[in-house]
Amino acid sequence: MSKITKAILTGGGRATRLRPITTNLNKHLIPLANKPMIFHAIEKAVEAGIKEIFINTNPEETELQKVVGDGSRWGINITYYVQEGGPQGIAHVVNCAKEFIGSDPFMFYLSDNIILASLRPLFEKFEKENLDCLIALSKVPDPERFGVPRFDENDKLVEVLEKPSNPPSDFAVTGIYLFGPDYFKAFATIDKSARGEYEIPSIFNYFLQNGYKMGHQEITGWWKDTGKADDLILANKLLMDTLLSVADNIKVGKGTHIGDGVKLNGPVMIGANCQLKNCTVGPYVSVGEGSTVKDITIQNSIIFDDTSVSSPPVINDAIIGPAASIIPQ
Ligand code: G1P
Repeated sequence: MSKITKAILTGGGRATRLRPITTNLNKHLIPLANKPMIFHAIEKAVEAGIKEIFINTNPEETELQKVVGDGSRWGINITYYVQEGGPQGIAHVVNCAKEFIGSDPFMFYLSDNIILASLRPLFEKFEKENLDCLIALSKVPDPERFGVPRFDENDKLVEVLEKPSNPPSDFAVTGIYLFGPDYFKAFATIDKSARGEYEIPSIFNYFLQNGYKMGHQEITGWWKDTGKADDLILANKLLMDTLLSVADNIKVGKGTHIGDGVKLNGPVMIGANCQLKNCTVGPYVSVGEGSTVKDITIQNSIIFDDTSVSSPPVINDAIIGPAASIIPQ
């Protein structure tokens, strides 16, 4: 099979579980390690050899296109697709990209999935074994929140269940999938589930029941679906651990002014044009561009762009912003 150079990334959805952060902000733009979440997905895709990306968006979306752009920042091409008619399930998102994919193999990546390892081993397995579909698995303590694979007594993958109340294994099917072009043949055969969505496990089960070559591989290292606020803080921490070296774990952007009484405890990432005064920041704090932080001690937190934070005196495990102002009366 030819090499995978195309990817579909999710950019829509409502992210109700992350409100109020996502009331006015697309969840894929939430900063993690001082970069919009979707940038991490794009960078993993590019590192594995992706050259063209298709992103679906909600009809009213404009910010995502503005922030992500046309892909030239990464030397690739990005196109957007406005999904009308409301969400119909993630299997349907892929079907919207039918023309873009043509007869090529591709990756489908849910952009709220954060991984630390490279995607290359998955691509290599898919290509070497000439698969029709490869699912990436991760061991989790709460498989009932995810798609879950069922294996028979010979450890052969036989079925994938969406959010089962009695999970048949302790693996989650992550939001990272590789497909051959027969995806669209499979989609044409499936129906909406009881919750009114085209479920991605219906595609896997079609492949499994119709003699297609399905592979699976456990993701090495850490994987997270950032569906809840706690997941964001943890993802921010682990990305900082990965992106900053132990010896040089404090990053300060251009134009930032570090004033009197500031103590930075790495890992810490401070964006450009910030003002810091009389504060202790870190470990595991990211501060977005143009923010002011003073008179506080803060750790394990995400501060968005253009915020002003000077109260309360101690802040732990918080997500602040965007453009929030927390100042004493
Ligand atoms: C979706 C899929 C599920 C998968 C998960 C991974 O669920 O339906 O099979 O395990 O992504 O992130 P959602 O997060 O949309 O509830």
